[in-house]
Amino acid sequence: MNNNDYIIRRENENDYREVENLAREAFWNLSKPGCFEHYFIHIMRDHKDFIPELDYVAVADGKIVGSVMYCKAKLVDEQGNEKDIITMGPLCVLPEYQRKGYGKALLEYTFRIAEEMGYDTVINFGNPDNYVARGYKSCKKYNVCLGDGEGFYPAALLVKELKEGAFDGRKWFYHPSDVDHPCDDENAVDEFDKLFPPKEKGWQPSQEEFYIHSHSAITW
Ligand SMILES: CC(C)(COP(=O)(O)OP(=O)(O)OC[C@H]1O[C@@H](n2cnc3c(N)ncnc32)[C@H](O)[C@@H]1OP(=O)(O)O)[C@@H](O)C(=O)NCCC(=O)NCCS
Repeated sequence: MNNNDYIIRRENENDYREVENLAREAFWNLSKPGCFEHYFIHIMRDHKDFIPELDYVAVADGKIVGSVMYCKAKLVDEQGNEKDIITMGPLCVLPEYQRKGYGKALLEYTFRIAEEMGYDTVINFGNPDNYVARGYKSCKKYNVCLGDGEGFYPAALLVKELKEGAFDGRKWFYHPSDVDHPCDDENAVDEFDKLFPPKEKGWQPSQEEFYIHSHSAITW
């Protein structure tokens, strides 16, 4: 991949269906048979937490090959103080364009804009393989947990400091946006999926990998 071979630009309304189809191609059968991410993107754009200023696509060979989106979220400390942060995702690249640097380029480009907007932290769930090279660390390293009471530290909860020193050691509880809640409605996802070309749902090993990552926690 050469810098002159692609551009990164804001998503616009004419891109919507192409980006949803890209997400469908990238996520299909990855974490479960079929996927919900195209529906997620579709509903996200109208949610109050969606950040249009961070909605970007990568274009190469005359088509959209990558997409990234962000939403607002919060951290709350044990005294009830709140910190505004952003959560990244979905991030996706067309299968035939993966592992060529488009995901990296989209993240680095939008991290700079997010920092200019005044955010100092990005948090998302994900496979650490995709993110540690971008400077993400385990949530445990920054004392950011999930849940109530003591909380816990999911292995897939990853934290990226946009500004060094964003964390001072105190314990934070992650409060994600509720933007993805409609994705639990499998009928709504299936109905939306009918707008796209037929595609076969099936099993692949990445689904077991996803199960392991999403059910693991860091305990020491
Ligand atoms: C994950 C995804 C967005 C990454 O985008 P990409 O353009 O393929 O990735 P890049 O070529 O920019 O590489 C990004 C980083 O991934 C890691 N990576 C690349 N190839 C890898 C491989 N085969 N195995 C493990 N890690 C790998 C590297 O750390 C790389 O960073 P580096 O170049 O600094 O070493 C893309 O592969 C994708 O859409 N996958 C399907 C959907 C998905 O999983 N989305 C993320 C949800 S957690």
